[in-house]
Amino acid sequence: MKKYNVAVIGVGAVGVELLRILNQRKFPINSLKVFARSERDIKVDGNLYHVESIEKEDFAGTEIALFAGTEGAKGASKLYAHKFIEQGAVVIDNGSDFRLQEDIPLVIPEVNKEKIYEHKGLIANPNCTTIQMVVTLAGIYKKVGLKRVILTSFQATTGAGRRAAFTLWEETKEIVEKNKESDFNSLNKKLEKEFDVFGNQIVFNVIPQIGDFKEFGYTTEEWKVVKETHKILDNSSIKITATCVRVPTFISHCEAIYFETEKDTDIEGIKNIFKSSQGVEFIDRDSNYSLPLDVEGTDLVYVSRLREDPFNKNSFWVWSVADNLRKGASLNAIQIAEELIRKDSG
Ligand SMILES: NC(=O)c1ccc[n+]([C@@H]2O[C@H](COP(=O)([O-])OP(=O)(O)OC[C@H]3O[C@@H](n4cnc5c(N)ncnc54)[C@H](OP(=O)(O)O)[C@@H]3O)[C@@H](O)[C@H]2O)c1
Repeated sequence: MKKYNVAVIGVGAVGVELLRILNQRKFPINSLKVFARSERDIKVDGNLYHVESIEKEDFAGTEIALFAGTEGAKGASKLYAHKFIEQGAVVIDNGSDFRLQEDIPLVIPEVNKEKIYEHKGLIANPNCTTIQMVVTLAGIYKKVGLKRVILTSFQATTGAGRRAAFTLWEETKEIVEKNKESDFNSLNKKLEKEFDVFGNQIVFNVIPQIGDFKEFGYTTEEWKVVKETHKILDNSSIKITATCVRVPTFISHCEAIYFETEKDTDIEGIKNIFKSSQGVEFIDRDSNYSLPLDVEGTDLVYVSRLREDPFNKNSFWVWSVADNLRKGASLNAIQIAEELIRKDSG
């Protein structure tokens, strides 16, 4: 089997998971280069990786470049993706810079892998919340259509990167330190300081804002879910609305998803679709549901608590949980790369 020259750009929350999954899935690697802003050595699962400074631009020979750097005008893919492409690499980007660009495929392999082959050098990975919701609903969409989707997400701190997860840990330690002599009645749960990462205290709190506020008072994260889902399913007539909430967990996003189907169906029909949906593990018992701590480190989207809306025909609720760093980001990117090389090897 052919082996590939691979580059990983960024070694934060997603980049480390990319390195872990490449190893776990025995991706056929000939050479591996790892880049970030600064040079150093890092260890992932006991394996040592030398991280090169990206500024040296030592990209020659790379065939697959997996980007997990930060976004925006000075983000990794804006600055360097085209340089990898010029050298002949295919770039798979975890960031949001190119997702909605018309000529760039936005891919979830379980849903629209045929789009991979339309690439002109760059393939975009959707947002973590979008991937999880679309994997949950793709089987339903294909079999009975979707008229309406109402999402409430409960998003882990790693969704905002490594520094955000450290913030949860640091605030937790500060509260414990502050309350060493307290009992429950005298607990002081509030920290008096500036909150630069989430804008508010995250520990013992829930923050109904992810991203900046945009049209109609929705945040950038909420608009990503709408626009990216429309692009992936190639159908902007689905009425989608979302409330994205940051919660004080480390890994795995939870989503309460309400959906109304286009065709007539019933709960048994929906159960059967979930049981055969790709990338989904359906838990068919009221008292059994998935939790972020149990889902961390796994590869599927766990769907439980299926209920019909007794007041609205063809309408249902589910509870969906997935590892945001794996299926929500790095695993999806590597699945795209695996599809590319499957095709490459005939
Ligand atoms: N976290 C998630 O759940 C998630 C899910 C889906 C998509 N994403 C996207 O994935 C990307 C990475 O997210 P993350 O959570 O891993 O962020 P992170 O923890 O903040 O890590 C960012 C990494 O990118 C590197 N970097 C930043 N700017 C760079 C540049 N100009 N050139 C090269 N490397 C650069 C940093 O280098 P240094 O280490 O040297 O500072 C760091 O290693 C983002 O675009 C994010 O939106 C994240």
